[in-house]
Amino acid sequence: MFCLLHRRFLHSSCRLQKKKSNAERRWLARQTNDPYVKASQALNFRCRSAFKLLEIDDKFRLLQPGSCVVDCGTAPGAWSQVAVHRVNSAGTDPTLPRGTVVGIDLLNIPPLDGAHFLSNHNVADPATHAKLSEVLPGGRAHVLLSDMAPNASGFRDLDHERLIGLCSSLLDLAEMILHPGGSLLCKYWDGALTCHLQDKLCLVFGSVRSLKPHASRKDSAERYFLARNYRKPVNS
Ligand SMILES: C[S@@+](CC[C@H](N)C(=O)[O-])C[C@H]1O[C@@H](n2cnc3c(N)ncnc32)[C@H](O)[C@@H]1O
Repeated sequence: MFCLLHRRFLHSSCRLQKKKSNAERRWLARQTNDPYVKASQALNFRCRSAFKLLEIDDKFRLLQPGSCVVDCGTAPGAWSQVAVHRVNSAGTDPTLPRGTVVGIDLLNIPPLDGAHFLSNHNVADPATHAKLSEVLPGGRAHVLLSDMAPNASGFRDLDHERLIGLCSSLLDLAEMILHPGGSLLCKYWDGALTCHLQDKLCLVFGSVRSLKPHASRKDSAERYFLARNYRKPVNS
């Protein structure tokens, strides 16, 4: 959402003479006062969302050097920046095993050293799953990350349902590519179908917990499920 607004703002700021709307002024004020925005600029992260993943990973140690990570909903690429660093996929530290980061987004993703990006790809499309199997070493990943978000319609329930649908599609992807024992971290917007998603996750993961990192805005329904210790569905 931040990234979308950012693009909208940049787009509208190009029309130099146009007066800013109230919504744009509020957004700009919030950005200017947000410590995570300032920190992301100082540390060259592409987006403030980097701090959500850093915080979760500092606590739960998902991203190990040598691990293979798939980042769903990558653009503009801040989570992938964090993942590249933590799994050493750019080979920055020659004493550590070198991992892999593959990112997917409907949008174009600017290149990043150490990551392989599938721009203009839909995570829910079986053709994307097939392509992923080809680019992942041995066709498998240790960690599935998803910060995906559909374009907000403005109708909270509808947006919630759409995002739960996207999260559910990750279970099909997990069945194809996630190593047994692997992890899934996915964003959702809290709502009526949250329990439904949680139940589905509990069927195939050993532990499932809901997280709200400090970097996630308090007034947002955004939360994350961290599901660990993947076991393949019995009928597959
Ligand atoms: C909040 S942004 C992700 C920000 C990213 N984690 C970062 O740190 O830079 C959400 C992204 O999800 C992408 N997205 C939404 N639905 C998708 C889908 N079905 N397949 C792939 N990407 C999708 C959007 O295009 C958008 O770029």
